[in-house]
Amino acid sequence: MFKSFLCAVCVLGLVAAAAAAPGRPETEAEQKARMKWWTEARFGLFIHWGLYALPARHEWVKSNERLTDEDYARYFARFDPDLYDPKAWARAAKTAGMKYFVVTTKHHDGFCLWDSKLTDYKATRTPWGKDLIKPLVEAMRAEGLRVGFYHSLLDWHHPEYTIDQFHPRRDDKAFVEQAATRDLAKYDDYLFGQLKELLTEFGRIDTLFLDFSFPGPNGKGRKEWQSERLLKMIRELQPGIIINDRLDLLDVPGGWDYRTPEQFMPQEWVSVDGRPVPWETCQTFSGSWGYYRDETTWKSAPQLIGLLVETVSKGGNLLLNVGPTGRGTFDDRALDRLRGIGAWMDRNGRSIYGCTQAPAEFRTPRNCLLTYNPEAGRLYVHVLEWPIGVLNLDGFAGRVEYAQLLHDASEVLFTEKGGEVGFMPGSRGKESENTLVLRLPVEKPAVEIPVIELFLKKR
Ligand code: GLC
Repeated sequence: MFKSFLCAVCVLGLVAAAAAAPGRPETEAEQKARMKWWTEARFGLFIHWGLYALPARHEWVKSNERLTDEDYARYFARFDPDLYDPKAWARAAKTAGMKYFVVTTKHHDGFCLWDSKLTDYKATRTPWGKDLIKPLVEAMRAEGLRVGFYHSLLDWHHPEYTIDQFHPRRDDKAFVEQAATRDLAKYDDYLFGQLKELLTEFGRIDTLFLDFSFPGPNGKGRKEWQSERLLKMIRELQPGIIINDRLDLLDVPGGWDYRTPEQFMPQEWVSVDGRPVPWETCQTFSGSWGYYRDETTWKSAPQLIGLLVETVSKGGNLLLNVGPTGRGTFDDRALDRLRGIGAWMDRNGRSIYGCTQAPAEFRTPRNCLLTYNPEAGRLYVHVLEWPIGVLNLDGFAGRVEYAQLLHDASEVLFTEKGGEVGFMPGSRGKESENTLVLRLPVEKPAVEIPVIELFLKKR
């Protein structure tokens, strides 16, 4: 017992130390500084691409349909994305206003998109015959985007990966029995080795999204992945890297950098033990991550802009996913949404980049979302439902120096501190003492979500 306690202490120490200067755990301020570019960026592109683009019915198709390696081999044999143009992908991301991207280097099916020396199950052995990752990293960097890798901890192809509750062959008794001799430690060597390749052969890697842990019976977690050791290696190879929270190390200091609510909007700023933490919600355009031909529940561009604004209004990041097709293109519906978001970001990005949740004293007006840039001292009112003529900002009186519509820098006049409203003598109303009243044009400006920029008085 004592021994295992000591051991846990030394493991925790190692993990924490790896994230900071040798010998001591990283402080909160150091972590904040390390993550500064990421919290300011707010908006990234997720890319789920692999063999599953060919069946085009979910990236989990191998598991969902209990496919054997032989069944699945037909996609490997035909993977030939002849229209792949990483520069076009990078342009699409940049135009949408994204500042970083995260691409699947390997998903749960085990297929590798780069030229790994540790396997033949990779893009360079398909009819396509070329590495997919290097040109993408280069193209994205050329457009100024930071580089992130998604790497699956699960692997439904590796011969030493033990059969668990998600493995495609889990229902095949004979197969399960025969696989009982598999040695997960050997798979871990492969996992470590591949991550080492990814973190040493592509220059600076800014973020890493490891996916995922499911500890418990018939599951896998920190023990099975050797998470502490893995994390230590990662931080040693790329000291500045930002890592997600799926290694099953939530209770370990330095065991994760940000939380990852998937496909849902948290009610408020995500917190752990009562403290707000960095977070990023990953979301799809439609229901699946990989290209899914017949999935039609696509979110509209205005919905997605709202999603981004709401995320930032709660202090989070949005990682929006594209599942490219087997030809190597972005689906037209995705391009259409990316352009729509980009048109809005072009004029209104100032309310997103470097912004966060507004201080609590500024109450959010009805049908609005607030963001705040602490460095610039500006508040952004996103008006979701355009009101008629006036917008009351409760609690803002005396705090605002100047107001304008963000997209065209046109002044917005305001009254405050109990000013009078209405035209008819004798039937005028009085505003409440704390309210600042913005005088808006009756017609909604021609932008999806109009933003009013408030320059706050210095205090
Ligand atoms: C999940 C799924 C996966 C997807 C990921 C994105 O864990 O297994 O298919 O890649 O989430 O966050």
